[in-house]
Order: sequence, then structure tokens, then C-alpha cells
Amino acid sequence: MSRYAHITGWGMAIPQKVLTNYDLEKMVETSNEWILSRTGIAERRIAAENESSASLGVQAALKALEVANVHPLEVDLIIVATSSPEHIFPATACIVQDQIGAKRAGAFDLSAACSGFIYALDLAAAAIRSGALNTVLVIGAETLSRFVDWNDRNTCVLFGDGAGAFVLQASEEPGGVLAGVMRSDGSGAELLTLEAGGSKVPASQATVLNGQHYIRMNGREVFRFATRVMAQSTLEVIQKAKLSLTEISVIIPHQANQRIIEAAAKNLGLPVEKVISNIHRYGNTSTASIPIATCEALQEGKLKAGDTVVFVGFGAGLTWGAVLVQWTGPLPTKKRVYPRRYRWFARLRSRILRLWRRVEGFLWGKNAT
Ligand code: ACO
Repeated sequence: MSRYAHITGWGMAIPQKVLTNYDLEKMVETSNEWILSRTGIAERRIAAENESSASLGVQAALKALEVANVHPLEVDLIIVATSSPEHIFPATACIVQDQIGAKRAGAFDLSAACSGFIYALDLAAAAIRSGALNTVLVIGAETLSRFVDWNDRNTCVLFGDGAGAFVLQASEEPGGVLAGVMRSDGSGAELLTLEAGGSKVPASQATVLNGQHYIRMNGREVFRFATRVMAQSTLEVIQKAKLSLTEISVIIPHQANQRIIEAAAKNLGLPVEKVISNIHRYGNTSTASIPIATCEALQEGKLKAGDTVVFVGFGAGLTWGAVLVQWTGPLPTKKRVYPRRYRWFARLRSRILRLWRRVEGFLWGKNAT
């Protein structure tokens, strides 16, 4: 019997605080006109002091579990893709695991910069299809505002905070994640870096004074690389799924720059309406941008059950990749059919299960913050 990995739940979380281009005009030498025309960004969200990558990840994850109607105890694995983890270790995924009460789940962080969500999705689906796991929570969670040099106009106008999550579940119904590609080219590593704080350049007074704990980027080169790989990996994943471009309903790309999104649409020969963009509202939220754009596309009816969607992204590393999904939505709850003389048993079983869930919910509620 074939196994498929369906995306059955989704959720997003964004901080309340909005930072507009006009606010940035007061902080660095820039203008709303420059930012809007060069990037498509009008505003972005900034995490409050009491918010973090984990707290935003928890909110997105709980929403996704609710949509999927999955209890945290059913989760086998949590992958948090992040470029702004809470610490080098422990993993942000473990903090999320504890706070949502996923007591049976393994948890780890995935570091592939903005391509992290694509990588995590592809890996989670492969683990489900192989039979190793049944339910995986994939989260993209970022507080990049904490790593931005607010005096560097080349980068501070680009990034924003937020989180998004998908629940993936095994099913025998055909559909779900059908193909994925993951690529990298470390020869471009220096184009986008957060240099210090690791083992090569440990934190010191000098690294702080030199601003080496901030994001540094060669924007022009990253732009060139991005426009090349977005269309390329979209076509690659479509070919891998043995489909054609005309069968794709919608493309949800990483939201880094509106001009990169438009160049990808042009290179693919697709109308720009087929390529989802919400960058004007949130800027570049790295690993969170694809699940956030997905949640909004669903709300706006731009993505529906039965659609074939390509998620495609790129990021530091350099990394890039794409995942092709036959979008299904939440799985119908399986009802067991009992012979008439065993109906009493079915009723008793469902009462015990309901009671058990309430006890679990009570205990879990006590643990959740
Ligand atoms: N306001 C005003 N002027 C600015 C600003 C700003 N915020 N930022 C840069 N400029 C200036 C530059 O200094 C430069 O001036 P100069 O010619 O006197 O040196 C001029 O504007 C043009 O600079 P360019 O770099 O050529 O501008 P470009 O059109 O390439 O846009 C941008 C810059 C927006 C950064 C673009 O290159 C880009 O989006 N690159 C990709 C970045 C990206 O996607 N990064 C994320 C990767 S994902 C991840 O892993 C995190």
C-alpha cells in the first residue's frame, strides 16, 4: 500500500508591532519610494521584547494542529527551520516541543537559511512516505530583527519577524507532497553571512565592536543568484513529479524581493497573478515567508483543495530548492464501522477517548505558557 504525506494543517503568527518604510526614513538614509520600488516592501513586523522565534513558532504550531485536528501527543517529530534560533543550542524546536506539550516528539532545528522551510518540508514528507513517521510538524520561525544592523540601510529595510507552520500526516489517499529538490553551493557562502558567534569567529569584544554579529549581504550578487535559481528549481521539481508547467495552479515563492518574484514569473512565462506575493506587508521573514504566504493564499481563496502548488525558495549558504504539492487540506476523520452487536463497545471507546483527551488537555494546559 503506497503512503503519501499530506499537508493537513497550517498556521501563522506575526508580531503586533508594524515598522513602516516611513519609520525607517527616520532611522537611516532611505525613502519609502526607494524601498517600495526596489523591493516591493511597504512594512514589516517586529517582535516585542517578550517575543522570540520559539514563542512565534508555538503560536503558529498550535494553530496548525487545530486546523489538522491533531493532538500534540500525536506528533512524531518537530522540525524548526530558522535563521534566527533562540540559541546555538538547545534547539528552538525543543523549546517549541515543550511548550506545546508534544511529549512523544523528537525535535531539531534545520539551518539552511531562507530555504530551510523547503528543506524541512521535503525531509518530513520523505520520512512519512518511507513509513518511518506518521505526523510531523514543520515550522519556520524568525526574529531576524534581532540580527539586523539598524544603521545598515542595505539590510535593515529588508527583513521582518514572523512564523508559519504546517502539519504533515501520512495517508493512503494519493496526493500531498509529490516531489522535492534541495540544492546548495557553498562557494557563495560569503555573499550572505552572520559571521561571528560560531566556532570560527567566537564572540568577543572585538566582534561586537566590528558589528560581526549582524547580517551582512552582497545584495546585488544574491539578487542575481536568486533570479537564476527560482525558475530553474521550479522546473526541476515539476519534471521530477512528471507534471508540466501548465498543470501548476499556483506558485508560492520565498518572499525576499518583489522584483525577484516577478523575474521568476517572467522566466517561467507565467502571469504574475499565479505567483503569490505578500511581501509588501511583511518583508523577508526568511523561513517563515512561505508558510505565512500559504496561510494568506488559503484565506484569500488563491489556493484551494485540488490545486497543484510549487513552493520555491533560496537563501544563504547558498541554498535553494522547491517542493511540489497536490493540495488536499485536512484529512477526513476516519470513522470505524462496528457490527451492530459491538456498537456498545464503540460508544464506550469514544467516551474513554474523550475523557482521556480532556485529562491530557488539562495537564498540557498546565504546562503550556
Ligand atoms: N535606501 C536608499 N538607497 C539604498 C538603500 C536604501 N535602503 N540600500 C542601498 N541603497 C543604495 C546603495 O548604496 C546603492 O548606492 P550606490 O550606487 O551609490 O552604491 C544603490 O542604492 C543601489 O544599490 P543596489 O545594491 O544596486 O540596489 P539593488 O537594486 O540591487 O537593490 C537590494 C538592493 C534590494 C538589496 C537587492 O539587491 C536585493 O533584493 N537583493 C537580494 C537580497 C535578498 O534576497 N536577500 C535575502 C536572501 S534570503 C536569506 O537567506 C536571508
